[in-house]
Amino acid sequence: MFQRFRRTRLNKHLRALVRETNVSVNDFIYPLFIREGKGIKTEVSSMPGVFQMSIDEILKECEELKKLGIFSILLFGIPEVKDSIGSDSLCEYGIITSSIRTIKKAHPDMFIVTDLCFCEYTDHGHCGIIDEVNKTVDNDATLQISKQQALIHAKAGVDMIAPSGMMDGIIETLREALDAEGFENLPIMAYSTKFSSGYYGPFRDVAESSPSFGDRTSYQMDPANRREAIAESLSDEAQGADILMVKPALAYLDIVREIKDASSLPMAVYNVSGEYAMLKFAGMNNLIDYDRVVMETMISFKRAGADIIISYHAKEVAKLLQV
Ligand code: PBG
Ligand code: ZN
Repeated sequence: MFQRFRRTRLNKHLRALVRETNVSVNDFIYPLFIREGKGIKTEVSSMPGVFQMSIDEILKECEELKKLGIFSILLFGIPEVKDSIGSDSLCEYGIITSSIRTIKKAHPDMFIVTDLCFCEYTDHGHCGIIDEVNKTVDNDATLQISKQQALIHAKAGVDMIAPSGMMDGIIETLREALDAEGFENLPIMAYSTKFSSGYYGPFRDVAESSPSFGDRTSYQMDPANRREAIAESLSDEAQGADILMVKPALAYLDIVREIKDASSLPMAVYNVSGEYAMLKFAGMNNLIDYDRVVMETMISFKRAGADIIISYHAKEVAKLLQV
């Protein structure tokens, strides 16, 4: 039998034809941080290129995103006043619900996803209500008020909700609550496998959501546990999630691949703040070819099995894809 050991060299057209993985602007969701006020656009020092913005600036940003071909956004609210139960997130006219209405009115073609959690709204910075006796997050009490948060987002016109607090039973709880109120068609993207990670550091600056005591290890996952990571996502699938997610992305691509192979649901990765900051600061110091490394990183997410990439790089990628 003839065996040829020298491989045929492909020219660039044929390389493009046979490429296994492609990144498209359609793959992206861009996170936005909204705060009260007018004319506010404050850059986050730990994340150059990422801003806290007031709603008027957010509307301009949406215009720019659409020009780049990005139609999906993930909203985080930074309320003026924080308290122990995150009241602003439970109020029909809090920062996030008002923003959903205003954006929908000005940009009905934007696909709005909201991060459903309490850490941005509570004065203690935890992702739920605190059980004062044990000083830990009370899972079941948090499930109850999460329903309220989901329903006001739904009524304000959100297109998809993304519960990120890692409470047990959250997907089933929210699915039932939404169905009961006539929102059977509102999809849920579960932060289904979310690790307790140091990579969230810069986010907590921008969302002003660092826990004032303790950490999130009681409800987020141990980075060392692979089988548990897969079980968490499959449990959310069983509870009715529409999209699964692995977060952070880069250090967990093995987990992305395994969940992708184990589930038939679409998969998202969250390319988090610390991952963004690493590339950004390396690029600013001319340690890497920034554009090239960004694209290489995005390809790695798709190759691992991600369908959706939530990333602060989304606008940069859209521009790189245009040339
Ligand atoms: C809220 C939430 C966090 C992130 C997304 N949603 C912070 C956290 O869990 O501490 C992190 C995103 C990022 O680092 O970019 N629970
Ligand atoms: Zn949270």
